[in-house]
Amino acid sequence: MVTASYDFSGQVAVITGGSGGIGKAISQRLQQSGAQVCNWDVHVNTAHQGSHFIHVDVTSEQSVHEAMDQTLSKFGKIDIFVNSAGIAGPVANVSDYSLEDWHRVMDINLTGTFLCCRAAVAHMQKNNRGRIVNLASIAGKEGNPAQSAYSASKAGVIALTKSLGKELAKSEIRVNCIAPAMVATELLDQMTAEKREENFSKIPMGRAGLPEEIASIVAWLSSDDCSFCTSTVFDASGGRATY
Ligand SMILES: NC(=O)c1ccc[n+]([C@@H]2O[C@H](COP(=O)([O-])OP(=O)(O)OC[C@H]3O[C@@H](n4cnc5c(N)ncnc54)[C@H](O)[C@@H]3O)[C@@H](O)[C@H]2O)c1
Repeated sequence: MVTASYDFSGQVAVITGGSGGIGKAISQRLQQSGAQVCNWDVHVNTAHQGSHFIHVDVTSEQSVHEAMDQTLSKFGKIDIFVNSAGIAGPVANVSDYSLEDWHRVMDINLTGTFLCCRAAVAHMQKNNRGRIVNLASIAGKEGNPAQSAYSASKAGVIALTKSLGKELAKSEIRVNCIAPAMVATELLDQMTAEKREENFSKIPMGRAGLPEEIASIVAWLSSDDCSFCTSTVFDASGGRATY
């Protein structure tokens, strides 16, 4: 894959879900481009070379607060904040969906993104500079059947991104999100084989995306080249997205 060059030297990036498939690719891409990277995750990936890890549960206000303190005391600042922590949750129709599962998906995907955005913005406003990138999903635009909580949570991430981007539009902080279709990571193991096949069949390119392809978009969204784009949803769906 041919990749564009960015120079993030002197910049600090936080990646939530940095141990996961997409988060790890983002973390590596930003690190290769010179950024110092701090991964926040509930699961520490010890095979992940060269970046710093902090154990964080993004659903916990206290945990996010402590992680922010630790990150700032180690790195001094945050220039780039990527919200990639997320779960798919069960595949089940609304009539069979438990409230417990609904809350779990919402807490991680939406409330976690809110808590991290809020903490990142409080810091970035002091420097009047920053880039925030949230991982939404095509499910948030279309609503996947039997994935109601996931779809609703990702629709929420899209709306949160649009609200926050507008709130900060007069500043030098840009807030955008990405809406991928299926990307080849362990997240797909949370789906049934039938659901994977159904989602896969909707992609005109006939293949899943690669984590590195999502990382390429994040690299551009994190750069100074992303200057007039904020509150925007970037599709990465192999042609599936139609609006
Ligand atoms: N893989 C796909 O097909 C796909 C498609 C569209 C959107 N996305 C989104 O992209 C993001 C990354 O997905 P992925 O494919 O890398 O998934 P993944 O399962 O490989 O990684 C997700 C990471 O989030 C972490 N995490 C889960 N709960 C957490 C919590 N409470 N606090 C902190 N970290 C937590 C996990 O430990 C894991 O490392 C997710 O938000 C996902 O919804 C993925």
